[in-house]
Amino acid sequence: MRQSSLNFDTQFRSDITAVELFAGIGGFRLAADRLGLRTIWANDLSSLSCKVYRDRFGPGEIREGDFRELLEEVPAHTLLSGGFPCQPFSSAGKKEGIRDARGTLFQSIADVVERHRPEHFVLENVKRLLTMERGTHFATILGALARLDYLVEWRLLNAMHFGLAQNRQRVFLVGTRLDRLQKSRKNLVDAVKLAQSNDFETGSDIRETIDTPKNWRMIERHKARFETWGLAIGDKFLAQDPAAFSMARPAVFLQEVLEPTVGPEFDFTESTSKWLHENTPVNRFVQGVEILSNQRGGARMGYTIFGIAGVAPTLTSTTSRHYERYKVGDRYRRLTPVEYARLQGFPDDHCRVASAYDRYALLGNAVPPPMAQWVIDQVLKGD
Ligand SMILES: C[S@@+](CC[C@H](N)C(=O)[O-])C[C@H]1O[C@@H](n2cnc3c(N)ncnc32)[C@H](O)[C@@H]1O
Repeated sequence: MRQSSLNFDTQFRSDITAVELFAGIGGFRLAADRLGLRTIWANDLSSLSCKVYRDRFGPGEIREGDFRELLEEVPAHTLLSGGFPCQPFSSAGKKEGIRDARGTLFQSIADVVERHRPEHFVLENVKRLLTMERGTHFATILGALARLDYLVEWRLLNAMHFGLAQNRQRVFLVGTRLDRLQKSRKNLVDAVKLAQSNDFETGSDIRETIDTPKNWRMIERHKARFETWGLAIGDKFLAQDPAAFSMARPAVFLQEVLEPTVGPEFDFTESTSKWLHENTPVNRFVQGVEILSNQRGGARMGYTIFGIAGVAPTLTSTTSRHYERYKVGDRYRRLTPVEYARLQGFPDDHCRVASAYDRYALLGNAVPPPMAQWVIDQVLKGD
């Protein structure tokens, strides 16, 4: 999976059916549409998200409600996608480091995989998943999926490597049903090697790693942090921190996606301007983000002033983050909802049926379609 190229093979793939869980405003849906897949079922609990989804994709395109109560409605499909909310697992079933996923939203995903056995799944989550509860959370997820006879690969990706001006690290977990691998390849290890051979600058190291039996460890004997890339099959996994991941530079910077004309409602209010003179100059780039000044080491949330020569910090659905301030020319202002859409790779008017205020949260929660598109494309090409 080479991150530098965003040239998609947009061959017509309407024979591939997709189901989108925890669909939100349809980040995976946009990706699937752009790749020519046919999304046949989608679900979200939030009526506002569903309103946006219907406006964008059609009135009958999403089923609103709690997914745990709608499992029976999910049709058979080829590709399952979803950016599921993080939810603590019960410690009741804790056994040698792997916890009980029963009753959680994640478990409902595993239930669908078990029932329909899609050829592939693509799941997305926050970076913190790799370290939460000393890795127990991720181990539970990995174990539950890999035991269903899927080859599971995960990778930490950054939106800034996908043509977006945002430092947004997300874990993608992709699965391919083992019999699908075996059909097109002589054996599993060959398949893994082939699937990886074009992926990394350090491809030969990866192949050697996969070939060495001692590198495969029991999932339940994980460390407190899962590495940024790995594979799992059955109850075993191997993992690495490939250097090539962090080398790519962003291709687009914040200043290139800003709206040329922005109303005064986005400017600092007089009261918020007052604390500006208390800020200490920083003037450096951290993970591609230009930090101009902050308050004593940046400890106080919302007091950082960002420049526009780098990429934006991670957009989130948290209200306080929408008020982060950027120095644009002589003005200090926050980002507009249109700029949020651009930084996430959505069309400017994607959330037009939501209020300006709500658009920040909807977009901040979404999976960037260009990232999702690249991952799905890679998974399908692995066939
Ligand atoms: C991280 S967001 C996913 C956003 C989505 N990938 C997108 O591109 O907009 C998680 C979504 O899960 C939904 N959700 C939370 N609990 C749910 C449940 N019990 N059933 C269905 N959806 C749920 C939330 O409403 C939210 O839209």
